[in-house]
Amino acid sequence: MGDTVIAPGAWATKVCIPAAVAERYDAPPGVALHHAVGLLGLTGLTAYFGVTRVLRPGAGEKIVVTGAFGGVGQVAAQLIAASGADVLGIAGGPEKTDGLKRRGITAVDHRCADWLAEIDHWAPDGLHAVFDNVWGEASARLVERLRPLGRVALCGQMSGIGGAVIAPLPLDNWFRLVTRSLTVQGFRAADFAAENTAARRALTDMIVSGTLDQEIHLVSGWPAAGPAFAELLTGRVVGKLVVEVQA
Ligand SMILES: NC(=O)c1ccc[n+]([C@@H]2O[C@H](COP(=O)([O-])OP(=O)(O)OC[C@H]3O[C@@H](n4cnc5c(N)ncnc54)[C@H](OP(=O)(O)O)[C@@H]3O)[C@@H](O)[C@H]2O)c1
Repeated sequence: MGDTVIAPGAWATKVCIPAAVAERYDAPPGVALHHAVGLLGLTGLTAYFGVTRVLRPGAGEKIVVTGAFGGVGQVAAQLIAASGADVLGIAGGPEKTDGLKRRGITAVDHRCADWLAEIDHWAPDGLHAVFDNVWGEASARLVERLRPLGRVALCGQMSGIGGAVIAPLPLDNWFRLVTRSLTVQGFRAADFAAENTAARRALTDMIVSGTLDQEIHLVSGWPAAGPAFAELLTGRVVGKLVVEVQA
C-alpha cells in the first residue's frame, strides 16, 4: 500500500492491474517525481536504447535529431552530445530551438524556409546519422544528406499523428540505401526491456550530475487532461507533457 508504481493504465481515478505488470518506483534522491514518466519513463528509455543500442554515435560524428524538443528528442539529443558526437536538433519554432540551445545543442527551426541550407552549412560533407521521430517528407530530405555508410535510427512517425497522411519516401531516395550503403533500423524500447533497470541507473547518474534534464510542460487536474492530450497531437506543446492528476 502507498507505493508509487510505473504501470500501463488508463485515464481513471482507480485501475485494477496484475501486480506483475507494476514496477515499484522509488524516486532517486534529488530527482523530481515527474521524471518517472519523462527522463526515467518510456520517453527516456526510448531515447536511451535508441541512442546506445541502435544509433551508436561516434565521437565527432555529425548527427541530426528530428522532433528534437519533444519528449524523446530532448533526451536523445543530450545523450548523443554526451557521447562526443556533434548533434543538431530540428524543432518547430523559437521556443523549442531556444530550449535546445540552452542545453548546448545546435538547433534549426524547420519552419524557416532555408532550414535545409542551414543543415548543409553545418554539415558540408554530409550527415553520419539521423535519430528520427518524425519521418515523412522532412526525413526524406535528411536521408539524401547521409554520407556513405550513414544510418537512421527510426523511432517514430510524428508526421502521421492524428490521422495525417505520411508522405512516402520517393523511390529514388530509397535507392540511396543501396548506392550509399545506408542502414535504416526501426526499434521499440520494449525490445530492450530486460535492460530497463540498468538504463534507469545510467540516466539517473546523468540527471544527478547535471548532464541531462528535460523541459516539462506540466498541467494539473482532471479537467486539464483531455485538452492537454488534444494539444499533444498538434505539435504545439513545448517539452515533455506531464499531467499531474492529483497534486
Ligand atoms: N520506438 C519506440 O519504442 C517509441 C517509444 C515511445 C515513443 N515513440 C515515438 O517517438 C515519437 C516521439 O515521441 P515523443 O514523446 O517525443 O513525442 P512528442 O513529444 O509528442 O512530439 C515530438 C515532436 O513531434 C513533432 N510533432 C508533433 N505533432 C506533429 C505533427 N502533427 N506533425 C509533425 N510533427 C509533429 C513536434 O516537433 P516540432 O514542433 O518541433 O516539429 C514534437 O515536439 C512518436 O512518434 C512516438 O510515437 C517510439
